[in-house]
Amino acid sequence: MNLSEVMESTNTCRFYQKKPVCDQDIAVTLEAARFSPSGGNRQPVSFVVIKDSDMKKQMQALYLPFWETYVQAIDEGMVRLGSKDKKIVASADYFARHLAEIPVFIVVCAQLADCHATDTDLDRLSVVGGASIYPAVQNVLLRARSIGLGTALTTLLCHVEPQIKELLNIPEDISTAAMITMGWPSKKFPKKLLRRPLSEIAWAEKYGTPLGTGTIIEK
Ligand SMILES: Cc1cc2nc3c(=O)[nH]c(=O)nc-3n(C[C@H](O)[C@H](O)[C@H](O)COP(=O)(O)O)c2cc1C
Repeated sequence: MNLSEVMESTNTCRFYQKKPVCDQDIAVTLEAARFSPSGGNRQPVSFVVIKDSDMKKQMQALYLPFWETYVQAIDEGMVRLGSKDKKIVASADYFARHLAEIPVFIVVCAQLADCHATDTDLDRLSVVGGASIYPAVQNVLLRARSIGLGTALTTLLCHVEPQIKELLNIPEDISTAAMITMGWPSKKFPKKLLRRPLSEIAWAEKYGTPLGTGTIIEK
């Protein structure tokens, strides 16, 4: 597969086969994280891989209450989703209720002191620290797809970081940034992801000025 094919078909996999994932395949995906950029090349990201069924059940028990609150907020119109809302919620609900059956959980950890956030003094949500974390995560998702593994990214468990840290023995100065689920998908990878067109997200010179897209054909 070439890079475009991988990127364009890396969806959120919420339906998995029970078939285990071997350690080498997991390592191949995590190896890809090493090549991501980070501020000052401080490389703050590390991973905890969980395959133990009891551990996964404990993590699912922590996930479900937040998922249920989130679904309620969607129902009440407090949370806005993209298109095909009902389908996403139904599959995400299945995912939440079968979470512990997914072969592999990977908790993404970050040494925040090494995240080089440059926007903490602004009167808004700080996002820059994440720029040293999530490129590594995306590399894992893409590498997994390239060998046929499905993944899903969730940040809901960050709500219960203290409990997750205790469960996984994560040191005090390390934070949790996300969890990746991984396994062999039970449905085919999509041919097309639902995403906004380039004309809505890319501008020329000034925000809002349409960018000439040349010969690019939008998929
Ligand atoms: C920060 C973040 C958090 C997410 N959390 C969840 C989650 O808790 N549960 C879930 O089912 N999907 C979660 N997702 C997946 C998104 O719902 C998914 O990327 C989006 O609906 C697009 O779907 P697609 O990737 O299959 O095209 C999350 C994605 C991101 C980037």
